[in-house]
Amino acid sequence: MIVLSGTQTSGRLHIGNYFGAIRQYLELQDKPDHQCYYFLANYHALTTIHEGAVLRQHTVDAATDFLALGLDPSRALIFRQSDIPEVCELAWILTCHTPMGLLERCHAYKDKVSQGLPAEHGLFAYPVLMAADILAPGANLVPVGQDQKQHVEVTQDLAQRLNHRYGDILTVPEAYIVEGTAVVPGLDGRKMSKSYDNTIGMFEPDNVVKKKIMGIVTDSTPVEAPKDPDRSTVFALYQLLATPEQTETMRQSFLAGGVGYGEYKKQLLAAFLEYFGEARERRAKYEADTSYVEDVLAESAKRARAVARETLDRVRTTVGV
Ligand code: ADP
Ligand code: TRP
Repeated sequence: MIVLSGTQTSGRLHIGNYFGAIRQYLELQDKPDHQCYYFLANYHALTTIHEGAVLRQHTVDAATDFLALGLDPSRALIFRQSDIPEVCELAWILTCHTPMGLLERCHAYKDKVSQGLPAEHGLFAYPVLMAADILAPGANLVPVGQDQKQHVEVTQDLAQRLNHRYGDILTVPEAYIVEGTAVVPGLDGRKMSKSYDNTIGMFEPDNVVKKKIMGIVTDSTPVEAPKDPDRSTVFALYQLLATPEQTETMRQSFLAGGVGYGEYKKQLLAAFLEYFGEARERRAKYEADTSYVEDVLAESAKRARAVARETLDRVRTTVGV
């Protein structure tokens, strides 16, 4: 069983990405008979980042973050998308079988253009490149957030089209959507997202995290009054980071009243530092050893590439090039 997922390297990863995606990657790498491919989608990030040095840095940063968070190169392949040129080769072959209407229906494209991103071909063709990412190594299972489900459906559609036309040459994947993965709220209460500049990064310095947490927007309920935990960003974040017992204690305290948000924010900061403490230490180690990170990327790419090459040889021969 091949499990595959990509992460765009268009900014620093944040706790929304961790609880929405990376935590699932960690669980899947532990399952027997699951060969996991977790890659850094730098060609996808190129749809929005047009400064070479910035894109290069985000890519290395994301790889270092992955390792620090516990993705384990002895159990999972961690590589750069651009190190597998077969993906781009397959993307063109898929493009030649992609109806315009299929891409015109994609929400992500429409959303991004309505947010003011220029309507460029790369953004429009984004799902085809994603399909190539998935189909080149012959992935069976694709763990993604709800927002990417439609792109996996496009992938299935394209694989089925080619299989119908040429015989079974591609593996049709399934999406692995973790139900009940709540949307992680950001500092302002909206969805945490780098586009809203409301994120907390796992690896930001203590003083930055502290300032961000202390600045989380709260309502104006007086200290002594009871508070609604289910409408509080501070509580929602605490719930992700604290133990169930700690969470229950905070819930009861919210309902009882008598404690101000400032105190809860301090508890949230402590829970954050506890939860990511080891990862933060590991990251410092990997940061000081960039050649280790590069070696992991190179070795994983070599292995992923060999698998993608087999698919491409088969597909090229079949389509006649
Ligand atoms: P951003 O919104 O910061 O640009 P991405 O769209 O690059 O983040 O997110 C990559 C993946 O991380 C998403 O597909 C989703 O699964 C997960 N993710 C991102 N933000 C959140 C969030 N606030 N809550 C839950 N999951 C999230
Ligand atoms: N589009 C995905 C996102 O924005 C990232 C991605 C690129 C991906 N290629 C992929 C995810 C292949 C899963 C499989 O989150």
